[in-house]
Amino acid sequence: MYTSKIIGLGKYVPDNVVTNDDLSKMMDTNDEWIQERTGIKERRWAEKSKGETTTTMGVKAAKIAIERAGIDKDEIDFIVFATLSPDYYFPGPGVFVQEALDIKTVGAIDIRNQCSGFIYALSVADNFIKAGMYKNILVIGAELHSYGLDKTTRGRGISVIFGDGAGAVVLSRSENDKGILSTHLHSQGKYADELVLKAPGMGNRWVSDIVADNDPDDVSYYPYMNGQFVFKNAVVRFSEVINEGLHSNNLSVSDINMLIPHQANLRISQFIQRKFKLNDSQVYNNIQRYGNTTAASIPIALTEAWEEGKISEGDLVVLAAFGSGFTWGSSIIRW
Ligand code: UT7
Repeated sequence: MYTSKIIGLGKYVPDNVVTNDDLSKMMDTNDEWIQERTGIKERRWAEKSKGETTTTMGVKAAKIAIERAGIDKDEIDFIVFATLSPDYYFPGPGVFVQEALDIKTVGAIDIRNQCSGFIYALSVADNFIKAGMYKNILVIGAELHSYGLDKTTRGRGISVIFGDGAGAVVLSRSENDKGILSTHLHSQGKYADELVLKAPGMGNRWVSDIVADNDPDDVSYYPYMNGQFVFKNAVVRFSEVINEGLHSNNLSVSDINMLIPHQANLRISQFIQRKFKLNDSQVYNNIQRYGNTTAASIPIALTEAWEEGKISEGDLVVLAAFGSGFTWGSSIIRW
């Protein structure tokens, strides 16, 4: 059986920096609260005037990943795109990447697993490669929250957290024992409503009724999060799924060189770091600069950690995520 290995990484974040002070001019919030509760100092918001979308950001990250992989775009066999903020309700962004990068008419699949989206995407790609079906797969995680947030005080519990950006990797067939050792995926739909964006959705109401109502108090188009409940579940599930990944490979916490947690909240990352007794150099965080970019957070952080020389050949890299669904997952990688 083959293994799959990351051979190229890239990231893109919009130029537009939005600080906590900028947010306090839009809603009743402040820098102190945001930093203390989340660790976030600033985030990037895409600019409509520049035509930025989830796809355009994903494409920019993907171009860098392909170039660094040292392959031609025509060697890409498949596209996997994770996002909760697609440009269109349908089709999903994978097909737009195929077109924008002028890749052959290879398959393109869209992953809808929110904060765990990149781990799910990586798992899908890894298993296609392990099965021998494809050799090089472009895996993208991109998110554009800022166009869809409630930027009034009503939405402050969620809007101060999220940011925009994209990350991408090229996953390629490897015939040695390095690469993705395993991925572990979970879901618990019982808590779907605890972190949710209900509209537009066919299970909710007739779309024509929503349009006809034109109700300014209709919040179904804005994301909702029961923050404390999500937080409590996150710390438990992150720990569980990291341990599951390590145990399934007969590894232990002391084998971890780099843990890249989904950047949900700095306090969650710090809790896990303390629980696993990891030092600062073993955990990568950049939520301070980008906020929570859901499916994009892990590939952005992975790319930055690699660019900063914090990941070396042979290192054990652990990726872990938790979010809406609830869904959670981990990936254990021998770099
Ligand atoms: O990425 C996917 C998974 N997501 C997560 O893992 C996120 C998990 N949850 C969290 O990160 C945290 O729960 C939040 C950062 C969302 C919220 O922090 P918290 O410490 O749980 O605050 P809270 O929701 O309990 O709110 C505490 C207080 C409330 O006021 P009262 O009722 O105590 O008077 C809120 O109204 O803070 C108030 N508040 C704010 N104040 C200033 C809520 N949002 C804000 C805000 N600025 N932006």
